[in-house]
Amino acid sequence: MSGRDSPIGIGRERQFEVYVGGARGIRPRVPVSVERLERRARAAMTPEAYAYVAGGAGTEETIRENRAAFERWRIVPRMLRNVSARDTAVELFGSRLPSPFVLCPIGVLEMAHRDADIAVARAAAAEGVPMIFSNQASRPMEECARAAVRRFVETYSRPSLSWDDLGFLRERTRLPILLKGILHPADAVAAVEHGMDGVFVSNHGGRQVDGAAGTIDVLPAIVDAVAGRVPVLLDSGVRSGADAFRALALGADAVGLGRPYVWGLAAGGEAGVREVIRNFRADFDLTMGLAGCASIADIGRESLAHAG
Ligand SMILES: Cc1cc2nc3c(=O)[nH]c(=O)nc-3n(C[C@H](O)[C@H](O)[C@H](O)COP(=O)(O)O)c2cc1C
Repeated sequence: MSGRDSPIGIGRERQFEVYVGGARGIRPRVPVSVERLERRARAAMTPEAYAYVAGGAGTEETIRENRAAFERWRIVPRMLRNVSARDTAVELFGSRLPSPFVLCPIGVLEMAHRDADIAVARAAAAEGVPMIFSNQASRPMEECARAAVRRFVETYSRPSLSWDDLGFLRERTRLPILLKGILHPADAVAAVEHGMDGVFVSNHGGRQVDGAAGTIDVLPAIVDAVAGRVPVLLDSGVRSGADAFRALALGADAVGLGRPYVWGLAAGGEAGVREVIRNFRADFDLTMGLAGCASIADIGRESLAHAG
């Protein structure tokens, strides 16, 4: 897979599709703005399905903090650096990805669209973006509903789990294992010491602990603690190419898209998901160029200023 989809780059290519297509009367399948996309998705979903995807834990303070934390990190553009040819590709677990995005695991996608995981998988493949499957994926909603409350609670709320349980996983696969939900540097170090291949900084989109830290705020200390031993990914609140840029500037290797692709699925099925991924990739590429970065290696902590 190549980071350069076309000679002009994904950013300009997408601008061309949107503007020239628009002039010819070809409208994007789903809105580019995530807020408008969410409104469109909401109109296409049942109130229960919308609430399932949009909702968070408790007072939803963590969802708000994810956004507020991103907005406190400001991008500081650099000028006149010849960024005409940009490479947005990253290396992750031996694969070259065209851009630093992965799709987050989202359970029970049937709530958003009948084609669910199949539509998302096709769109992800078309854009060359890895999709992380949820262990609640590809199952009919009825089956999940039958399984709720006991099996669900046993699987998802096992307070007895400890670091030693990771050995069970490590023994059973040679595939890379990433630990998702890490928010403390000491836990990131423990993950590395217990043989994990990657750390996924996440508060699961504010769906677990109400009042949790915004992921972008805890990222720098985790990156420092991991010290390059394994890749560090981040999700929770990524809503633009600028957010991905901020995360990479603070040391993430890639970012996870969550709710935005579910909105794309609800509003436009497979084509909707594909456009959402494409819009994020294009927005990231354009942000890189405007910030004076020709490659991922050019993005660093000096690319940001903390506002507050
Ligand atoms: C409807 C929904 C279902 C989710 N299901 C899972 C899941 O089964 N497993 C998991 O690890 N995370 C799950 N997540 C969390 C996502 O993987 C991801 O961390 C989160 O969506 C990122 O936050 P954001 O969507 O606000 O950007 C779910 C999130 C949503 C919105």
